[in-house]
Order: sequence, then structure tokens, then C-alpha cells
Amino acid sequence: MITKNQLISRLQEIGENGILDAEDADRSENMHRLFMYPAMMVPAAQSAIIQAFSDILPFNTYAIDPFMGSGTSLLSCMEFGFNVFGQDINPLAVLLSKAKTSTYEVHKLKKILHNIKEHIKSDNSTKIDVSFSGIDKWFSKEVQISLSKIRRAINEEEDINYRYFFWILMSETIRIGSNDRTSTFKLHMRSPEELKQRNIDIVQKFLSISSYGISDYELFSCKLKANHQSSELAFRGKVEITWGNSQISINTTKKFGLLISSPPYGDNHTTVTYGQTSYLPLQWIPSNDIECPYDYLRTTQEIDRQSLGGKINNKNLEERRIALFEKTKHLRDFYKNIPNDEIVKYKKTIAFIADFDDSLRNIMGVMNDDAYYIWTIGNRFVGGREIPNAEILQDLMEYYGINLFFKAERQILNKKQANKNNYSKTMEKEQIMIFHREN
Ligand SMILES: C[S@@+](CC[C@H](N)C(=O)[O-])C[C@H]1O[C@@H](n2cnc3c(N)ncnc32)[C@H](O)[C@@H]1O
Repeated sequence: MITKNQLISRLQEIGENGILDAEDADRSENMHRLFMYPAMMVPAAQSAIIQAFSDILPFNTYAIDPFMGSGTSLLSCMEFGFNVFGQDINPLAVLLSKAKTSTYEVHKLKKILHNIKEHIKSDNSTKIDVSFSGIDKWFSKEVQISLSKIRRAINEEEDINYRYFFWILMSETIRIGSNDRTSTFKLHMRSPEELKQRNIDIVQKFLSISSYGISDYELFSCKLKANHQSSELAFRGKVEITWGNSQISINTTKKFGLLISSPPYGDNHTTVTYGQTSYLPLQWIPSNDIECPYDYLRTTQEIDRQSLGGKINNKNLEERRIALFEKTKHLRDFYKNIPNDEIVKYKKTIAFIADFDDSLRNIMGVMNDDAYYIWTIGNRFVGGREIPNAEILQDLMEYYGINLFFKAERQILNKKQANKNNYSKTMEKEQIMIFHREN
């Protein structure tokens, strides 16, 4: 066990050594490339921070990520023996995190892949198994036929846990093989010239993604075995991954000693459209295998609409703004300086921060008194003004009596912005902010 001061020195060292920027990030690490979810955290940076915490917290402490996304932080926690709980509003994030945190037998993964390959080979049907408005816009007929074959072959597998793994690999195949250009997170067609030149063999792509997917899993599982010196199971701790809207509730009765998370930095529509990026893969995954209580396929925007800041209720916005200003001086001061004719631009910002504050209240209800909180957050621009997200977070945490004791900056390498709107300007830095209740 180390002291809090020793922890701070270790965190400082991590910052000084450039580990937080993780410029030479390895995409095979911790199954990062299984599906390229938007705005993923960097495994090397998260793991270095968690390693420092593993010396101050007991081995089987429960860690929570209430905005878990692709599960990067949870996997880093697993590396160091923490039990993990995560939830997200996006059903694709839930599936992805389930797949990445599950324990598989590698020989069984390989056998299933072999069966899938054989199934596809003998499948001469040209039947297309899914239908939705816009399918012909986003997928060529050939791609639709191939994806249907892959889907039928995965569906043959009886064990739902193993299906999860292959649905994710199919999702990555869809991300690369659809007519959507992958340079932004919003759905956007490739140009007609580009489409004419495209010639992707979807089945081959899927098989190659599957083969590196399995070897990335094997690598991660070996790492866990080595860390925990167990030859039996890759992970000895407990894992719980579930769908959840953190603004409404944290869906567990557990209590947590550590939070590690990165919330959205603004409403999804104008920052990172996690939902839109997930829309096409979700169309191809059978709904029986998806955990989500709302109609996530209602439109391409539905997941983003359900997310923090996605809906503005004009009736109670003013009331919420006043309540929020009691808690955060930085938001109050920011707002004071906005000319009256521009105030309307900041409605979404207020709605987003109020929604985040609701989540924070729910989170506080499941944390131990002496818990540590590791937040990664970035400021963003709206109407040319920088929203002081980091300072607002600090105010809100202090409102709950929890103080900042360490802060470091990291460069954001490849977070694509939802461009072509008036709200965003490229964000280049994020803050890692660590909090603890002072004794
Ligand atoms: C910055 S990402 C998390 C990144 C994640 N730490 C990773 O490494 O991939 C933010 C996540 O918050 C989720 N989110 C937005 N609103 C939410 C809500 N109300 N409840 C739960 N999750 C939400 C988004 O779907 C997104 O996956």
C-alpha cells in the first residue's frame, strides 16, 4: 500500500513521461480495434493510471464507469484485478463492452470462426435478411448479400456470449464496408466517384477482422493470466455490464471504491455522434441479442437524442439553469458574459450540463465515502466561446464535498469532431482530473 502523496508522485511521473498522450498507441492492445468506437480512451494511458491506483486500493475493489463506451477503462481495471461495473445508453457500447469483458475459450472462438467460414462457403442464397429505410443507400446489393450470409452463420452459434464477440467483429466489418465515409462520426455518404472505385470483399474483410480479433483476445487473456498468476481463468474478478441511462439511475446495488470515466463533453448531436456511428451495425444485429428498452432504431438520431443533452424541455429549463447556477460558479460566470441576443445558442449547453448533474447525483448514491474519482474531460466551443467543462465538473464535485487533488493534461490524438456545425472547433487537449473526499 502507498500513501496519497506517493500516489500523487506516481501520477506526476506518468504525466511527465508522456504516457498520457500515448502517441505510439498500439491498437491491438486490450482489444482496442475490435470495433473502432468514437472517441475511445487510450488503453496505455488508462492502464498506467489504474496501475498507480492498484497500490492504494485493495485488490478486489469495485470500479465503475457510468459512461463506459467501448469499455477501455474497464479493461484497464481488469488488468489490475479490480471488479468492474459499466453501463451506457448506447446498446452497441453495451454489446461491445460485454464482448470485451467476457471470458472465452480461445480454441472455441477459433472453432466457431471455422464453422462460420464453412457456413458462408456453403450458403448460396442471395436472400437479404434485414430491411430498413435507406439500406440501398448505405450498402450495395453485393454487400447486403454477403452481410446476410455472415449474419446467418453467426446466428447458428448457440452460446449468446460467443455470438456477442462475432456481432462486434461483424459491426467493424460494417463500419468499414458500408457506403458511409468513416472520416466523420456522422453518417455521410461517400462521393459517387469513390463508391465506383470501391471493391471490398466483405466476407474476406470479416474473416481477417475475426482472425486479428481472436488473437487480440488471446493477448489480453494472457496478460490477465500473467497479472493474476492464475492458469485457470483469465479473469478472477467480477464483471457486470448493463444497459443504463445514468441520468435516470445507476443499475446496480453495488458500492464502488473507484470511478474511472469520460463523460460526453456536450450533447452528442454537436460533439460526437456515438449513436449515429452505431446505427448501421445495429441494423444488422438481431434485436434479440440487444439489450435496450427504447426503440434505438427509430431514426438515425434516436440514440443521440436519448443521450445527455439530447432533449431540451423548454418548460423546466429555466428552473434547471437556476438550480445549476447554485452549484457551479464557473457556469454562472460564463453565462453572465453572454450578450442577450446570443443566449439562445447556449440552451443545449445548459440542458446538457443539467443532465450531467443529474447523473452525478445518481453516481454519488453508489460510491463509498472514501472512493476515488478519475474523470477525463475536455472543454469545447459553442458559438466561438469555450465552455469551461473541467472547471464546471470541479464545482459540481465540490458541491458533493469531493475535492480535486490531481490534474494533468493530455493531447487528443484522433478524436474526430461532428464537423460542419457552428458549435465545434477542434479540441486538442483533455484534462485528467482526480478527486477524493478530504478527511
Ligand atoms: C466519451 S464516451 C466514453 C468513452 C469510453 N470511456 C471509452 O473508452 O470508449 C461517452 C459515452 O457516454 C455515453 N452516454 C451518453 N449519455 C449517456 C447516459 N445518459 N447514460 C449512460 N451513458 C451515456 C455515450 O453513449 C458514450 O458511449
